[in-house]
Amino acid sequence: MPLETEAKAQVRALLADLRPGHGDLLAALHRVQHEFGYLSGDAIEVTAQQLGLFPAHVYGVITYYAEFRLEPPARVDIRWCSGPACRARNGGGIRDAILATLGCAMDGMTADGRAGVRLGQCNGTCELAPQVWVEERATHTNAIVGGLTAARAVRLARALRDGATAAAVLADSTITGGAIVGDALPDTVTAGATHA
Ligand code: FES
Repeated sequence: MPLETEAKAQVRALLADLRPGHGDLLAALHRVQHEFGYLSGDAIEVTAQQLGLFPAHVYGVITYYAEFRLEPPARVDIRWCSGPACRARNGGGIRDAILATLGCAMDGMTADGRAGVRLGQCNGTCELAPQVWVEERATHTNAIVGGLTAARAVRLARALRDGATAAAVLADSTITGGAIVGDALPDTVTAGATHA
């Protein structure tokens, strides 16, 4: 029997308290993706074993939901809000500016993986439209940049593309414009926020 890899053992430990069957499958997938940033082949295999499911079934569920990824994420993702309030305030122009600056398509990333752009849904903070949120896995950063313009969106994408950290970008008022920057979770978005 092949030795268990460290990653497989980690996934097994993460899911140890879940019940076999379909009932806990989404919870399992969210846990694994939160820990590793994506769902690898090994993770799918171990998840299926732990829950007593076929790997093909687990794979089918992963591909059904847009929030799950099968590839490692970018170092920093710009999540673009596709909701109506953001679109009404030039969200489309902001999206196009980010894509052109990063040189990739929606849900893609730069060739070196430094920066990516992902489709987001309205998170209920429409008063901050148009907005993107900056997600950096390594530092657990997930912050809104609201009241964005296309010009500042270009600066944001360019800085991340060139290797700036999320913290550096969020501290740069020529990028945020002094607009609200807070936690992307709606219930905490106003904590410590400042208005332009
Ligand atoms: S439409 Fe963008 S946050 Fe609601």
